[in-house]
Parts: sequence; structure tokens; C-alpha cells
Amino acid sequence: MYQTWEELEESIKDCQKCKLYKMRQNIVFGTGNKNAKLMFIGEGPGADEDRQGEPFVGRAGKLMNMAFEMVEIKREEVYIANIVKCRPPGNRNPEDDEANACMDYLRNQVMLVKPKIIVLLGSVALKNILGKEYGITSARGKWVERKGIKYMPTWHPAALLRDESKKIDFIKDLMSVQEELERI
Ligand code: URA
Repeated sequence: MYQTWEELEESIKDCQKCKLYKMRQNIVFGTGNKNAKLMFIGEGPGADEDRQGEPFVGRAGKLMNMAFEMVEIKREEVYIANIVKCRPPGNRNPEDDEANACMDYLRNQVMLVKPKIIVLLGSVALKNILGKEYGITSARGKWVERKGIKYMPTWHPAALLRDESKKIDFIKDLMSVQEELERI
């Protein structure tokens, strides 16, 4: 584990730990407040993110920003990262070998940010962080505490684009995050 952001960022620059490097335009490392109490973990970059090198800047990200505004979460105050830092082709789910190869970077990010709360966006984030036995449909909206960090699994914002009815759950989950954040 690297003790500084500089070392960590340097270490990922030319990453070829999995096959996703072959197709990437940019590594999407993560963005936001490096001392945030609240962190969000998504799945992996899409086309817009790959092009811009920043997480959640495409359609799903815009929807997430709107939800943030509704519950008064400031995007610049949180830290946002993904399970994999390079775009899986055609936006398929990251495969296990890809997620595993990338996991040390995310662990290192969490170690450096030291968040109190982590929101897990969707099934890929949930399963890779809390375990394969979790399913997003039953886990969402329920706190899980591990090693002093509180995890809130919720829908991935892209799921809200496909199914409008999930928006209300997403807002509810973010409200509960906001309440917890004010308490700690
Ligand atoms: N979906 C994700 O999971 N992450 C992003 O950064 C963008 C879309």
C-alpha cells in the first residue's frame, strides 16, 4: 500500500495488470475530496468516462448529480471511484480477474481517504466489496458495518435510467446516507 496519493497515482499510470488496458483511452482513477467522509464506488468507466478520464460524467453521472442536489450532497465534497479503472468493452460488467487485478488500487484509495461511509452503486460494487453472497435487490437500503466503515448498497444510477421506479429508492438511500453523515 502506498502512503501518499502521488505514489499511488504514479503506480497506476501505465497499468497493464489486466486486459482492459488494451482498449482504454484514459485510466479513470477517481475524483473528489481526498479527505471525504463519504465515498461512492461504482462499477467501471463508460465511454464518456473513458474519454474524459473522470468517473460518472456521462448520463448516469448526470442523473447522480441531480440526485445529489436533491439531497444536498455536494459532489466536490465526496470522493468517487470505481471497481475497475479502465472501461470494459461495450460497457459489459468487469470480469472477476479484472476486478481482482484492480482491487488493490481501490483498497489503497479507501485507506488514504478514510471515509466513514461508502455508498456501493449497484451489484458489481456490492459483490466485490461486501461479498458474492450479497444481492443488490435485497441488500439495497440497508446499512452494513465492517471495520468501522458503514456501507450503504443502492441501485447503480444507470439502473435508474432503465427503470424509473428505482429513483425513489435511490433518493431514499441517499437521504439515509445524508442523515448518518450529519450524525458522525
Ligand atoms: N458507471 C460507473 O459505474 N462508473 C462510472 O464512472 C460511470 C458509469
